[in-house]
Amino acid sequence: MTAPIRSICCIGAGYVGGPTMAVIADRCPQIQVTVVDLNAARIAAWNDADLSKLPVYEPGLDAVVGRCRGRNLHFSTEVEPAIAAADMVFLSVNTPTKTKGVGAGQASDLRWIEASARQVAACAQGHTIVVEKSTLPVRTAETVKAILSAAQGDVPGGGEPKSFAVLSNPEFLAEGTAIPDLENPDRVLIGGEDSDAIEALAGVYGQWVPQERILRTNLWSSELSKLTANAFLAQRISSINSIAALCESTGADVQEVAHAIGTDSRIGSKFLKAGPGFGGSCFQKDILNLVYLCGHYGLHEVAAYWQSVVDLNAWQQHRIARLVVQKLFGTVTGKRIAILGFAFKADTNDTREAPAIRICQDLLEEGAQLAIHDPKVPEAQMASDLGCPAEAGGWHAVASPQLAVGGADAVVILTEWQSFRELPWMELAPLMRRPAWLFDARSVADLTAARAAGLQVWRVGMG
Ligand code: NAD
Ligand code: UGA
Repeated sequence: MTAPIRSICCIGAGYVGGPTMAVIADRCPQIQVTVVDLNAARIAAWNDADLSKLPVYEPGLDAVVGRCRGRNLHFSTEVEPAIAAADMVFLSVNTPTKTKGVGAGQASDLRWIEASARQVAACAQGHTIVVEKSTLPVRTAETVKAILSAAQGDVPGGGEPKSFAVLSNPEFLAEGTAIPDLENPDRVLIGGEDSDAIEALAGVYGQWVPQERILRTNLWSSELSKLTANAFLAQRISSINSIAALCESTGADVQEVAHAIGTDSRIGSKFLKAGPGFGGSCFQKDILNLVYLCGHYGLHEVAAYWQSVVDLNAWQQHRIARLVVQKLFGTVTGKRIAILGFAFKADTNDTREAPAIRICQDLLEEGAQLAIHDPKVPEAQMASDLGCPAEAGGWHAVASPQLAVGGADAVVILTEWQSFRELPWMELAPLMRRPAWLFDARSVADLTAARAAGLQVWRVGMG
């Protein structure tokens, strides 16, 4: 008989831990949910009375946090008591690509997973279900189990002996739509060996997710399904971006091609938007992880296949920067270029692996002066991503598209913010130096209006 979960601890209050636990707390008022993090500034922001200051910008998140915080949702830096009180602990820590040592540039750095598993081993009391929420290389649960087994049977302070069950429950939310993705997921995936633990977690999701959408698999299938899902999604983007380049050379239009192929129900219409390449903290990291795993198991052809998805993505970003230079008479030295959008996609303040970083760096390398505007990304974040301070680095952040385009030879749209769909080209074009270009890497601008305002236009994948 599966006992219902009454207390959850989540280690890691980031883009996944924060929103996921907020939705669990919202949908399961009978469960006390505590999200812990070592980063005191992040926890303070989660606890800020002003909900516009939450550390993660996600539409709808403020309302969910506002409903639950202080009731059954808590954010804290006190990791140990939160683990001790929990029936179930989610590991939702970062798993970035290793930067040095064996597997540098490909393998995931598991030091935070190991540290958090050790903390659970040390602080848990009685029976604890440990849930891998982070995206992990297949077979990581073996490591987590080995760490926990070392503490199995310990009796801290005369209480119940410690025991553990390990589950894999990868997260499929996308940033910008995290709340609807969590509230209405296509599926919830639970991998494990202990059926009581699986049913306990299924019982949590079952509060709002229909049973047929809760998939149960073995541990390794669950871990590998997450990497595979991201690899397939990213592969569609590299595929359509490769065709976009061919469209530009042949007079075909990638939007028409995407529509034509997307109506085939076997292909489907989603994730076929050509653009400046995929960004975000996960697609590249997870494919590189897959490449590393394939190499580790001697599957070198498979590794090369997935590596090509990442290579094509980098190529697309360099291609767009080169194209801007080429259209501006082969040189951008000293020319002002307006960059609209720095976040890796709309409706997020996240800039990790944003296409804007590589494209801006290439243009700065060519000597351009960039005026960058993003509605949600602060200048300090841009400076950190570009690796150089504003002004001295040849760029500065501005508060509006109007300020960005003043005196510019070109405007380059790199994030599909809604406000960029409605730009008043008749008002903006006269502020630019003629001849002036609009480069729309996200296919959001009103090209008819831009042309009517006297701009020359390039749109990704438009021949
Ligand atoms: P993040 O960097 O935003 O958050 C991770 C947090 O964990 C950080 O705040 C860090 O301080 C904290 N942390 C690390 N070690 C800790 C420890 N020992 N104790 C307490 N706190 C600790 O990362 P994220 O974007 O939330 O991603 C987390 C995981 O989820 C990654 O594996 C990622 O691949 C996966 N994922 C992310 C997304 C996404 O949209 N960002 C979606 C699905 C899956
Ligand atoms: C992605 C997946 O969609 C999630 O399912 C997964 O949980 C998550 O990664 C993760 O593991 O971190 P996310 O990166 O937040 O989510 O956002 P996406 O909507 O997938 O966009 C990723 C990148 O691809 C963005 O730069 C976006 O602009 C780009 N993209 C997306 C395209 O260029 N074309 C498209 O058709 C779709």
